[in-house]
Amino acid sequence: MGAFIFLFLFCVFSFQSSATKVTYANFHVTQCGDAGPEIQYPYQIKGQQQQYDALPGFELLCKDNLTTIHFPSYGDLVVKSISYDTKNIHLLDPEHCAYHVFLKLDLSLTPFHYFYVLKNYTYMNCSTSLPPPFVEVPCLSASSYHVYTVDPALPVPGSCKKVKTVAIPFAYSPFLSDKSLGLRFTWDLREPEDNDAGNRTRGSHKSPNIVIGSSICVFVMAMLLLISIKVGWATRNNLHQKEGQLLQS
Ligand SMILES: *[C@@H]1O[C@H](CO)[C@@H](O)[C@H](O)[C@H]1NC(C)=O
Ligand SMILES: *[C@@H]1O[C@H](CO)[C@@H](O)[C@H](O)[C@H]1NC(C)=O
Ligand SMILES: *[C@@H]1O[C@H](CO)[C@@H](O)[C@H](O)[C@H]1NC(C)=O
Ligand SMILES: *[C@@H]1O[C@H](CO)[C@@H](O)[C@H](O)[C@H]1NC(C)=O
Repeated sequence: MGAFIFLFLFCVFSFQSSATKVTYANFHVTQCGDAGPEIQYPYQIKGQQQQYDALPGFELLCKDNLTTIHFPSYGDLVVKSISYDTKNIHLLDPEHCAYHVFLKLDLSLTPFHYFYVLKNYTYMNCSTSLPPPFVEVPCLSASSYHVYTVDPALPVPGSCKKVKTVAIPFAYSPFLSDKSLGLRFTWDLREPEDNDAGNRTRGSHKSPNIVIGSSICVFVMAMLLLISIKVGWATRNNLHQKEGQLLQS
């Protein structure tokens, strides 16, 4: 009986400790193309067979071996890398214009926020180009108009229109290359288990390992229980026999 209790406690503890780790680590890792980032929980590729329900905002698309993520406020961005330890996703704009992304992207209804400290800047659209120290954002400007990101406290020159004030990581600088300037976001994972207490089935997050492990545990416990009952009977029968022998003699 002691062994039975020990095994039971062992099973309970081992599954409690493994459940949290397994959720993140043991899901099968997928990839889009040969060079794409590894995709695992909480992300998943849309349209692939899944082991768990899609989490809103974490669905990725696989297009021509490129991993992309869709933001309704902007469009598709390319996923360059994902760090699961630091919850950090590095994106690139396929149009190579991060300042356009900063202007348009609305992260408020997504699980993401900028990895950088943000500061408010005003986008100005000017019909004439402004003298230094103003530096126009090349990818947003053309020969007939010039777009700048400036301190919101500055007065807007007469030839310019204020487009929008947005919280962005940095004002435009020619030292930042538009082409490779990355967009780094972190994500908040609202665990369905923690949030709406059992609204979603916990089972949907369990990996096959846990299922197999717990089945083995249950099986072994059932066998032990059977054996202990049989042994109990056997010893009782023995006692009865011995009593009978004693009475007969
Ligand atoms: C994607 O990658 C695979 C394997 O490297 C290659 O065979 C295939 O042609 C690629 N597809 C495209 C659209 O680049
Ligand atoms: C930007 O300005 C808005 C409105 O004035 C303010 O609510 C917000 O906190 C500011 N953001 C930053 C990062 O300073
Ligand atoms: C700036 O103005 C031009 C012409 O008025 C317009 O075509 C362009 O889209 C504007 N750019 C931004 C970022 O508002
Ligand atoms: C889970 O919660 C949502 C929103 O609170 C609700 O609409 C849904 O019916 C719930 N599902 C279950 C199975 O309780």
